[in-house]
Amino acid sequence: MKILDGKAIASKMREEMKAEVERLKNMHNLVPGLAVVLVGDNPASISYVRGKRKACDEVGIYSEEYKFDAEYPEEKLLRLVDKLNKNPKIHGILVQLPLPEHINEEKVLYAIDPSKDVDGFHPVNVGRMMIGAPGFLSCTPHGIQQLLLRNNIEIEGKHVVIVGRSNIVGKPLAMILVQKKPGANATVTMCHTRTKNLAEITKQADILIAAAGRPNTITENMVKEGTVVVDVGVNRVKDPSKKSGYRLVGDVDFERVSKKASAISPVPGGVGPMTITMLLHNTIQSAKLSIR
Ligand code: GUN
Repeated sequence: MKILDGKAIASKMREEMKAEVERLKNMHNLVPGLAVVLVGDNPASISYVRGKRKACDEVGIYSEEYKFDAEYPEEKLLRLVDKLNKNPKIHGILVQLPLPEHINEEKVLYAIDPSKDVDGFHPVNVGRMMIGAPGFLSCTPHGIQQLLLRNNIEIEGKHVVIVGRSNIVGKPLAMILVQKKPGANATVTMCHTRTKNLAEITKQADILIAAAGRPNTITENMVKEGTVVVDVGVNRVKDPSKKSGYRLVGDVDFERVSKKASAISPVPGGVGPMTITMLLHNTIQSAKLSIR
């Protein structure tokens, strides 16, 4: 059984990116810039945003952070997005989700200039991804594809079963892997909370992607021998033995499923570091596209 070590792959990719950022600085006097916007005090979001900024520093990407309390008005947020859209130092804008109840998430995401939408959440980029046109791919699905490819796991012609249909993971991942392109060309099945006989379908997977957001969604009786398993879940479960009082687990019963799988991604250290790396990739791409 092979561990799909996202941390190691992400670290290697970031080394390459660091060199690329250095080259852009020297050749074009260009420093890629990312703005990260956080509203509210969701602990997971705070931790994600910290990770994103740290990763920017690591590869030499300039970053700005905007942190507001949970009551921050939508109108002000829209004004900030507008200002960032016009700021030439900023090539990528990321508004951390979820946003507080009183803010219309769609309205904010749609306000981001698609050419700075490094999350790949704007409908223009979602549409481009769907038809296989150039644009920003959303970071988690793109990171999952890279995690598989860089572990020499063939995707072409394989039956990929995705459990979860979110706009951030399940749906865009299906779109990316079904494309008529190298590194894709998969047969994709998407399952969700209303799927009947889930285990019967997951047992048919050559590659099983767990993106349901619930611990133990995938148990050993749901996978066939030799399956490749990618665990996208990031769930906090109480653990008094930890200093923080919790530990992170995925959507897969790792201990048992790993005995049947031919390869499996751990949580943490699997998909998470890949997501951030693809965000850096998109930010660098966006900066390059600004050279005219
Ligand atoms: N919340 C959870 N995942 C993501 C992500 O990839 N991007 C943003 N902006 N918010 C998130």
